[in-house]
Amino acid sequence: MPTRSTIMDTNSYRPEEAGELDAGTRELIERRERVLGESYRLFYRSPVHLVRGEGAHLWDAEGRRYLDMYNNVASLGHCHPAVIDAVDRQMRMLNTHTRYVHETIVDYSERLLATMPAELGKAMYMCTGSEANDLAMRVARAFSGGEGILVTREAYHGTSDLTSGASPALGSGQPLAATTRIIEAPDAYRVDTDDIGHWFADQVRSGIADLELSGIRFAGLMIDSIFSSDGVLPGTRGMLREAVEVVHAAGGVLIADEVQPGFGRTGESFWGFGRHGLVPDLVTLGKPMGNGIPVSGLVARPEVLAAFSDSIPYFNTFGGNPVSMAAASAVLDTIQSEGLQQHSAEVGAELLAAYADLADRHPAIGDVRGAGLFIGCELVSDPATKQPDRGLALAVLEELRSRGVLTSVAGPHGNVLKLRPPLAFDRGDIDWAVGALDDSLTALGA
Ligand SMILES: Cc1ncc(COP(=O)(O)O)c(C=O)c1O
Repeated sequence: MPTRSTIMDTNSYRPEEAGELDAGTRELIERRERVLGESYRLFYRSPVHLVRGEGAHLWDAEGRRYLDMYNNVASLGHCHPAVIDAVDRQMRMLNTHTRYVHETIVDYSERLLATMPAELGKAMYMCTGSEANDLAMRVARAFSGGEGILVTREAYHGTSDLTSGASPALGSGQPLAATTRIIEAPDAYRVDTDDIGHWFADQVRSGIADLELSGIRFAGLMIDSIFSSDGVLPGTRGMLREAVEVVHAAGGVLIADEVQPGFGRTGESFWGFGRHGLVPDLVTLGKPMGNGIPVSGLVARPEVLAAFSDSIPYFNTFGGNPVSMAAASAVLDTIQSEGLQQHSAEVGAELLAAYADLADRHPAIGDVRGAGLFIGCELVSDPATKQPDRGLALAVLEELRSRGVLTSVAGPHGNVLKLRPPLAFDRGDIDWAVGALDDSLTALGA
C-alpha cells in the first residue's frame, strides 16, 4: 500500500463517510464518481459545494457564507471586477495564439520583467504551474548539461511526468525520477541549529554529492521560496543565499517556484525569492498570475534560457494568448492600484500577531510563522517535544469549517494549518478567522 499524499489525502473526503452527507451533496458526489477519474480528491469529510465568491468570501449552495483562508488562485479576491472586465473586453475583440503579432504579450512581458531583478530578462508563457516547472527543468538540463534535480522533502511542483517525478508530496504511489534527490527543508522550528541557512546549504551539498555518487550530473535546485507544502517556512532574510552559492559552484541553476509566494503575497517583497535577497536563474509563475484565468510563466536569465531556446522551438497553444495576458495585466494593475502588496504586509502582520496571541492560550499551537498573508500554524500534542498532531489538525479543519472558515493543512506531518486568504482579506475578517480557531481549539480541549 503506497503512503498517502500529504497534500492530496490528508484533508480529504472518504467514500465510506457518504452516509453522513445531506442528500443533495451525496447525489452530486455519486454523479462525480460515475464520470470522473478516481485520482481526484475532495476537501473535507463532508465536502463543500460552493456556488459563488466575492473578495475573500464564498457562498455555498444553501446560501451560507464562508471566509476563504486558503485561496491564492483568486489572489486579488474572488470575481475581481477588473479581471472580469479585462477578459470580457479582450474576448469580444480577439483571442488567438502567440504565432501572430499582438501587443498584449509584449506589453505584459515588459511590465512583468520590470517587477523582477534586471538579470531576469526573458519571459515565456504557459497555462499551468506544472508546465512552467516542466519547461524550467528542461532549460536547467540544457544549460547545465546535467539531469539531476534537488527538491525538498515535501515539495510539490506539478503534475506532468517531469514535475510529478520531482514532487514527493504526491506520496509513494508516484515514483520519483531516478534523477531526483530529496533534501530536507529549512524548518527553523524543528531543526536544531543556530544557522539554518548554513544547515540548508549542507543539505544541498549532500544532495549534489549523492547525485554524483550515482553518476548523475547536477542540473539544479528547484524550490518554492516559501516552502508551502513543506509546512510554510518563510525563514529569515538571506536564509537561502549560501545554498544558492553551492548550486552555482556545482554548475547548476536555481529554479524559484513562485506559484505560491509570488505576486505580492508575502508583503515584504513582490516575489518570494526577493525576501531572501536572491536572483534566481529561472522563475516559474502560476496560480495568482491570472486571478482565475489559467496562465503561467517562466522568467529566465537570457544566457540560461538560450541553451534551450537556441535549439528547441516552443509553442503552447493557449500560453500567452491575448485573453490570458489581459487577465494577467489586470492583476498587475490591481495589485498596484489597490496597494495589495502593502496591504498583505500590514494586514498579514496583524493576523500573524493575532494567531501568535492565541498560541499563548492554546498549548497545542507549537509555532506560528508567516510572511504577509501567508501563515502557517503548527499543531502539536506537546509543545516541549514538538510532537506533530495531525489528528488534531484534521479535527480543527472540520471545526473551522463548521464556523465558516475554509482552509487546509500542509507539511510532512499534515499538522500545519495553511492560512493564506485572498489578498482581499481585510482587518474586518481577522476576528472571524482567529476567533474561529480559538473556539475550535477550545471545543477540542486543546
Ligand atoms: C509550488 C507549486 N508549484 C507548482 C504547482 C503546479 O501548478 P498547477 O496545478 O497550476 O499545474 C503547484 C500547485 O499546487 C504548486 O503549489
